[in-house]
Amino acid sequence: MPKAQKIIIDTDPGQDDAVAILLALASPELDILGITAVAGNVPLKLTEKNARKICELAGKPDTKVFSGAIRPLVRELVTAEEVHGKTGLDGPDLPEPKMKLQDQHAVDFIVETLMAEESGTVTLCPLGPLTNIALALIREPKIAKRIEKIVLMGGGFFEGGNVTPIAEFNIYVDPHAADVVFRSGVPIVVMPLDVTHKALTTSKRVAAFRKLGTRVGIATAQMLEFFERFDEEKYGTDGGPLHDPCVIAYLLKPELFKGRECNVSVETASELTMGMTVIDWWGVTKRPKNATVMRDIDHDGFFALLVERLGRL
Ligand code: BDR
Ligand code: CA
Repeated sequence: MPKAQKIIIDTDPGQDDAVAILLALASPELDILGITAVAGNVPLKLTEKNARKICELAGKPDTKVFSGAIRPLVRELVTAEEVHGKTGLDGPDLPEPKMKLQDQHAVDFIVETLMAEESGTVTLCPLGPLTNIALALIREPKIAKRIEKIVLMGGGFFEGGNVTPIAEFNIYVDPHAADVVFRSGVPIVVMPLDVTHKALTTSKRVAAFRKLGTRVGIATAQMLEFFERFDEEKYGTDGGPLHDPCVIAYLLKPELFKGRECNVSVETASELTMGMTVIDWWGVTKRPKNATVMRDIDHDGFFALLVERLGRL
């Protein structure tokens, strides 16, 4: 088997973050150097704890979890308890984690890891607001050339926004951090709402997780049933979008996704369109192509991969 791909998952769990982490932990093709928590769906105290709960659920308590930025770079923190519940992981009844949080700050961990590992061999997987990643890039600009790529969930264009008519949650929460990341020169792959809104947790798909009959399978079904209720009502669909696992699925099976290289710029000034990802899909500007933006997903293949992998835990 080829060498496992080294990754750092930066996350704000969040039920869909949790499923992404489970998918990564279940996949031998990936070597998770660490999981870094950021404030987002719920405050940092909860996201770092939730990350540890998920590692324990997966039976991987040796995974290193780090706590990062407590708030966005410039703006006040906006959270999403209405979607994720008070704990951020409402649905299953998961025990308090026993595994310890690492002492090192998440941003130091990201910088030190990238400086220590061979250049071009570590991929960053941000699943939440980009605060930790931007802070790392600001703290040690040399890391920009050492990051293999960033595969992130965030933004939206044809599909509009999910927190304002035009902004997606992760970018909206810390648009200034997103701006730093999209200007960094690091190769970026974007999973926007245009993809994730096609990956719906239909009742049949949730049933497939439950049918695994394992703790992970049942907890996943419970998380998704809680998580989807908000979006089902909002969009009138059977199931809600399963955003964050698209990032990990891309690393495992990039052929599930289709997109193109284009310029992505982030709005940081206008209150009306704050956090909008302005995606030059049609190449109507001369702005440099700074990201590969995905637009389509083989959603049946995506859910088949998820069920097969989570079944291994
Ligand atoms: C993103 O926002 C969060 O609520 C989800 O975890 C996902 O990362 C979707 O807009
Ligand atoms: Ca998330």
